[in-house]
Amino acid sequence: MAIRVSRTPFVGGNWKMNLTRAGAAELARSTAAAAAGRRVECVVFPPFVYLPDTIAARTADMCVGAQDCSAETQGAFTGQVSAAMLRDIGCCATLIGHSERRHGLGETDALLTKKIARALEAGLTPVLCVGETLAERDAGRAHAVIETQLRGSLAGHSEDALATLVVAYEPVWAIGTGRTATPDDAAEAHRTVRKTLASMYSVRFSEQARVIYGGSVNAKNAADLFAREEIDGGLVGGASLNATDFAAIIAAASSRRT
Ligand code: 13P
Repeated sequence: MAIRVSRTPFVGGNWKMNLTRAGAAELARSTAAAAAGRRVECVVFPPFVYLPDTIAARTADMCVGAQDCSAETQGAFTGQVSAAMLRDIGCCATLIGHSERRHGLGETDALLTKKIARALEAGLTPVLCVGETLAERDAGRAHAVIETQLRGSLAGHSEDALATLVVAYEPVWAIGTGRTATPDDAAEAHRTVRKTLASMYSVRFSEQARVIYGGSVNAKNAADLFAREEIDGGLVGGASLNATDFAAIIAAASSRRT
């Protein structure tokens, strides 16, 4: 029997490698204002170098996450940033395994499971990204890919340790393409995520974890996506760079009935 739980909507703004220092600070302030009083957990993910300026604008309604963290704790890892450092400067979360890192930089599930460990040790909320490529979808393998990525990336972590886990389903073919998964397709993929979590852990865990959708979410399509019981919010790229559009997305998530 399904356990009914209330999941606070989660909206992430992944700024990727965009903005200037002044632009990041300004967008952080407008986003915090848009999140004020909304029933939503709002997290923005600026480029590393703009984290301090963005953190300066954080409020009780908006916190700041990193786009990645190292799989290591400290030492001779040139160019990397540890989860503990991110926590130290005031981050609340980190993306893990974004497709632009899985596919662009060759990150594997074995690496991602270590990154999740470091994030959890540091007290950061891990936002684990999973999703199939177009070729995988066309080959009918979308659900198998999602399951494999979840099993691989979460390997070795207990249900208790993963209490804060957020899973972002981001089909690679929908990212930055303007081509959004239909609410039906997204909801089906989210059911696969929950089925996998239930089989790895428990039904209770699978019902409590937030599963959000990413891939060309915009001010127009957000409400339809978030109307689905399965979709607890969104991870937004391009539209999160526009304060007005992102405010509309936050409002759509906040008025979602759970
Ligand atoms: P877009 O919203 O630009 O498609 O990006 C989605 C994404 O990758 C969020 O992490």
